[in-house]
This record gives sequence, structure tokens and C-alpha cells, in this order.
Amino acid sequence: MTSTSTPSLLPGTSRTLAASVRGLSKTYGDGDTAVHALRSVDLDLAPGRFTAVMGPSGSGKSTLMHCMAGLDRPTEGSVTIAGVDLTTLDDDRLTHFRRDHLGFVFQAFNLLPMLTARQNILLPFELTGRRMEDGTAERIEQVIDVLGLRDRLDHRPGELSGGQQQRVAIARALAADADVVFADEPTGNLDSTASAEVLAFLRRSVAEFGHTVVMVTHEMDAAAYADDVVVLADGGIREHLVAPSRARVAQALEGGAR
Ligand SMILES: Nc1ncnc2c1ncn2[C@@H]1O[C@H](COP(=O)(O)OP(=O)(O)OP(=O)(O)O)[C@@H](O)[C@H]1O
Ligand SMILES: [Mg+2]
Repeated sequence: MTSTSTPSLLPGTSRTLAASVRGLSKTYGDGDTAVHALRSVDLDLAPGRFTAVMGPSGSGKSTLMHCMAGLDRPTEGSVTIAGVDLTTLDDDRLTHFRRDHLGFVFQAFNLLPMLTARQNILLPFELTGRRMEDGTAERIEQVIDVLGLRDRLDHRPGELSGGQQQRVAIARALAADADVVFADEPTGNLDSTASAEVLAFLRRSVAEFGHTVVMVTHEMDAAAYADDVVVLADGGIREHLVAPSRARVAQALEGGAR
């Protein structure tokens, strides 16, 4: 059964949710071959929290992230971020909304090889001509320092380690001051040292910049950096755990019995 104890229980967060999902379904194909990747998911994410999304392979984690991040259209239901229902936007508006409000970190870093680290970080601004608001330049410099990228800024991705490339991708997502940053297995390609670095930086970005981060992970060690844990099973939310213990997360992953 679905069990949701939403972070709206946290003080001061009941009114302004970072993201709210209602009745979200995604079906691939139809008839006998239809795959119900998401089955009427409801999910509320409070702002300024770091949420890990866990669950077995094929449970719908990436599909949920893609629908929430406006990269894929759900079959049914709504996704509301910053007060806007993404499902009501046409493609152009959705593209603008993504640019202005959302950040993504994918397992493949999606860095442009011919640009330096700094140029990659500033890409959302330079590519789209988006104007920097007051304080944005300073915040980007701060992100660069928090991520420990200062001395790698003039290097191209090919001259950076996997962990450094991933940090550049994260800096790019954070630089745009997104309302919500989505990360799908951001440490999947990294060794344990680089993973710990990246996770600590995501953690700090929540603590120091007040970002809202949602991260898919298979790793209990990675989930331990998050505040809250959403466990998916078979296209539905099995549990939404607020500040759970490791044992509680393990229990939810094993079968969800309380
Ligand atoms: N484009 C697609 N066409 C058809 N089926 C798809 C498509 N994308 C995903 N699916 C199916 O939807 C279900 C959910 O997939 P999804 O990628 O969301 O799982 P996941 O939880 O991210 O898994 P993993 O941990 O392996 O990344 C799976 O059964 C998958 O095969
Ligand atoms: Mg996936």
C-alpha cells in the first residue's frame, strides 16, 4: 500500500511546496504490450530538502524524474512547480520554464567537449541569452568554490576527472538557481571518493543555497546524504519517509511493511 507522510508536516513548509505531483501516470505503448511505468502517483516535495528516490530497477524512478522535470509528458495527472502546472504548458513554454526554474544532472554529464568548465557552467545563460539577475554572478562564483572547481575552470571536460566533470554538471544545474534540481543517479559512474565528494556538494547546496534537490540512487550510502527518501515500487510510491534511519529505508526497500 501507498504510505505517504509528506514533508508538509515540517514547520513552515505546508503552503509553499517545491513540487507537487497529482495522479501522475505514464503508460508506454498500448493494449497487451502497454507498460504502466507510473500509476497515479501523488507526491509533495517541500522546499530546501534533499530527497532520494529509491526502488528496484524498472520501478519508474527515471520516468518520474523526467515527467517532473518536464522532459517527458505524462499520460495523466499534473506536475506543479513554482505554482505552474507543467502539463498545461505548450512545448515552447515548457522549454522556457525548464530553463528558468529547473536543473538537471544526468548520469551522462552532458558537458560540451569543446567548451571549458567555466563556459559549460555558464552555458544556460550564454546559450539562451538569459539575463543574469543581481547577485547571480556572485552566486555562481560561490557555487564554483563550494564545488572546488576554481582551479579547473579553464580546462575542457576531456582534461577533467569523472568526478570533476560531474561537479561541473552540478555547478551548471545550480548556477541557474533552479527551483528544483533533479539528478538521476549522478554518482553512477564515479568511484567512491568522487561519489562522496559529489554527494557532499549536493548536500551543501541544499544547506547553503537552500536548493531543493531530488536524486535517484540505488545506493544506500548515497541516500544517507538526503533528508528524505521516496521509495517507488511497480510505478507507485511505496513510502515517503521523512528523515528516516538507514534501517527504516532498508525495511521500506525490502517490502514496505511497517
Ligand atoms: N521509452 C520507453 N518505452 C517503453 N517502456 C519504457 C520506456 N521507458 C521506460 N520504460 C519502461 O517503464 C518502466 C519504468 O522505467 P524507468 O526507466 O522509469 O525505471 P527506473 O526505476 O528508472 O529503473 P532503473 O533503476 O533500471 O534505472 C520499465 O518497465 C521500463 O522498461
Ligand atoms: Mg532509471
